[in-house]
Amino acid sequence: MVAEVDITLNKGAQDSFVRSEEPFPAFMGGYRSGKTAGAIIKCWFYTMKYPGSIGVWTEPVAAMFAESCLPTLRKFFGAYEGSLWQEQGKGGPNHRIEFANGSLWMLKAAETPERIVGFEAAWALMNEAASTEHGSQEEAYFRLVARLSQKGFPHWLGVATTPSGQNWLWREWVDAPKEGHVLFHGGTMSNKENLPDGYIEMMTATYGLGTPMYRQYVLGEFVQMEGLVLPTFDVDKHVLPWPDKLFVRKIAGVDFGVQSPTAIVECAVTNTGHRYMREWLYKRECDDEALIKACGDAMNDGITLFVCDPSGKERIEWMNYKGIPAVKAPSNRIERRVKAWLTPLSQGMLTVDRDSPFLIRELTGLSWAKRRGRELETDKFDPNTPDHAFDAGADVLQEIEEMPMNFKEPTVVEHGVLA
Ligand SMILES: Nc1ncnc2c1ncn2[C@@H]1O[C@H](COP(=O)(O)OP(=O)(O)OP(=O)(O)O)[C@@H](O)[C@H]1O
Ligand SMILES: [Mg+2]
Repeated sequence: MVAEVDITLNKGAQDSFVRSEEPFPAFMGGYRSGKTAGAIIKCWFYTMKYPGSIGVWTEPVAAMFAESCLPTLRKFFGAYEGSLWQEQGKGGPNHRIEFANGSLWMLKAAETPERIVGFEAAWALMNEAASTEHGSQEEAYFRLVARLSQKGFPHWLGVATTPSGQNWLWREWVDAPKEGHVLFHGGTMSNKENLPDGYIEMMTATYGLGTPMYRQYVLGEFVQMEGLVLPTFDVDKHVLPWPDKLFVRKIAGVDFGVQSPTAIVECAVTNTGHRYMREWLYKRECDDEALIKACGDAMNDGITLFVCDPSGKERIEWMNYKGIPAVKAPSNRIERRVKAWLTPLSQGMLTVDRDSPFLIRELTGLSWAKRRGRELETDKFDPNTPDHAFDAGADVLQEIEEMPMNFKEPTVVEHGVLA
């Protein structure tokens, strides 16, 4: 059986993935980078070469066969539908593609891994393997490996997916690749010829060049973004040297720690409302003396108010007693704290000082907690990602949000002097 098809593979990841004879090839790339097309072509070539072979194609959920696998199969090999291949059992548990040469593709949803038992196969292909629509697909992967037992055929398991942070795929193929696990990596750009004009520009404009979102979806990189609390925070865009500007208000946020670090973060606001953030203190086991000293230094620099973690009532009273103008932050609710950062970031109204390493590290890494292999929890931060400078910043940013209520525009009476 010979099928003449005229396909030009994209140079780079797609071409290498299709031709790879490794037992565990992975094509991980940006959106629309030609992953599913590459996977269909790879499976087709194998099927033509090995009559009688059995393969398993998985999608995260059964509904996706009609959206991804079949339209792609029809796009490239539709001319042979009804002669070389046909779809059978649509919508049922036995959904499959039968080939005239005796080969078979079983179409199985990764959402029901318990059904990946009791048959033998030569190959498996997991499309959108990083999707967690019904939980992690790692179990489906383990079960599929055990199916690769059809005698007389070369065995392989491939994946085609957009990466999604440092998950099981990252561990298996990137961090500590096991034998035969080979990664082919490509961005959306590598499939430019087959995409509409302006598509990549549109994605770039929407995600923002260089943001974690851009790096994951367009460049197809393994960005720890899935769980990031501030996915729009971009070091290239939001971190700059402290500016030589006139500020109309300088206040600071305080997060008290006992064993964990105590953090003081300044927010200096310009007359356009732009917020400049920097750290004054980030200290583990911070004693009273160090705290008083940091507040004193900040006050000498023009900071007029310390907005503190509302749960530290006694600490606030103690600071007042020591002559430090300290108040409670408006709210300790997690969504308020996150919004306090996200809103000015999305408005392009927030910049972080380049010399604030702890603050930058927290803003880049803070992640939501995750139940094992399941969806994210957005009511709790991942305890492995520190939030001390983040919280101090959130306290002070909330106060700034409320500022217009009782804030009088300062008037310049003399150049450089505010009244
Ligand atoms: N070698 C090729 N020749 C012609 N068209 C191609 C080729 N590779 C991909 N395409 C086309 O480019 C578009 C995107 O490809 P594909 O669906 O494979 O990308 P993907 O990476 O799976 O996208 P998604 O992230 O949406 O799953 C489709 O229209 C596909 O048919
Ligand atoms: Mg696809």
